[in-house]
Amino acid sequence: MIYINVAVGLSILLLVIGLSVGLSVNTFKGRDALDSAPLIDGHNDLPYNFYHILSNNLSAFHFESDLRNDNVWGKNACSSCFTDLPRLNAGKVGGQFWVAYTPCESQYKDSVQLTLRQIDVIRRFIQRYPANLQLVTAAGDIETTWRNGKIASMIAIEGGHSLDSSLALLRLYYDLGVRYVTLTHTCNTPWADASIVDNGYVYNLTDFGKTVVYEMNRIGMLVDLSHVSHNVMREVLAITRAPVIFSHSSAFSVCKHYRNVPDDVLHLVKKNNGIVMVNFYSGFVNCNSSRNATLQDVVDHINHIRNLIGVNHVGIGGDYDGVSSMPMGLEDVSKYPDLFDRLYENREGEPTWTREDLEKLAGRNFIRVFQAVEAME
Ligand SMILES: *[C@@H]1O[C@H](CO)[C@@H](O)[C@H](O)[C@H]1NC(C)=O
Ligand SMILES: *[C@@H]1O[C@H](CO)[C@@H](O)[C@H](O)[C@H]1NC(C)=O
Ligand SMILES: *[C@@H]1O[C@H](CO)[C@@H](O)[C@H](O)[C@H]1NC(C)=O
Repeated sequence: MIYINVAVGLSILLLVIGLSVGLSVNTFKGRDALDSAPLIDGHNDLPYNFYHILSNNLSAFHFESDLRNDNVWGKNACSSCFTDLPRLNAGKVGGQFWVAYTPCESQYKDSVQLTLRQIDVIRRFIQRYPANLQLVTAAGDIETTWRNGKIASMIAIEGGHSLDSSLALLRLYYDLGVRYVTLTHTCNTPWADASIVDNGYVYNLTDFGKTVVYEMNRIGMLVDLSHVSHNVMREVLAITRAPVIFSHSSAFSVCKHYRNVPDDVLHLVKKNNGIVMVNFYSGFVNCNSSRNATLQDVVDHINHIRNLIGVNHVGIGGDYDGVSSMPMGLEDVSKYPDLFDRLYENREGEPTWTREDLEKLAGRNFIRVFQAVEAME
């Protein structure tokens, strides 16, 4: 009896050892790439929620709490609220562009004052949580900030109407820490067309629009082509001296929405050495109205871009807090790791993702583009 028990015990022990050896050889999951490279998201509109929910009174925002079921910020109270610190940490977010957005209605009116107000609230937000967030304005500081356990927090402007057709303002925004400007939001500016005019008369990019792009190249401001018309994408890519970004856009041939990037433009992005940071918004990733968007749709957009122009030109730009519907499986900012796990499953018919590829998608591609833009003269 004793001998039998010893034998059984020994075999169980050997089995456990065998299993753990087997597991330790093969335990890499896609999410682990987010421990060796920072996940940098190109677009989060939480600052606009600060404005319209709290009039930018940050003492009323409990960033350090899980707000999933909050009376004001929870999913039952706010359809465009997806962000808080516990969920950013669960999502392994290492770098984030916080967006200083002001609506198109402010164009030709108070767009500058309102943009400055949003830059101010982003800067106060970052200063308020020094253990968790740090303002970053240089590509080389993203990784060190993230390794120190903080989210590298960068500032973006969404919409050329914030410039009020002034290069002086563009330069001063840079001095305030802004590192990308989206050339348009949903309205045309006097110098560039927005995506909604793709169905109508087009002006494209005017001579002054070209001057704006050249000045952005000269001072090291990233040019963001999300939201512009498809022809403006083509025209900017024909003249820019620096690589461009799409901070939150997906692939047009997967879902034919004008906010997405057509294949011919994707080829131009490859030539330009730029990057498309894929938007998760349900309405952009799934064009089939008889079903709901899922994480698989986002996987399909990422894989389409990768198959067409290669793994060096794709990134992540979730658009959390800027939209009201996110795909099943990517419900809030805690979910990015699931996307990386899913890509690493390397299913039949999909491109093979290595750890290095996932690191590029997460943040290394964006850092490369940012460095190239900084190096311009
Ligand atoms: C800002 O919010 C705090 C906390 O809710 C509140 O005590 C304070 O009165 C608010 N300030 C303003 C100016 O509304
Ligand atoms: C707009 O740009 C496209 C592509 O560059 C070009 O074919 C078209 O002629 C332009 N339209 C105008 C009005 O300049
Ligand atoms: C749209 O979704 C429905 C329901 O899943 C499916 O039956 C249909 O084939 C889809 N249509 C297209 C064009 O993919």
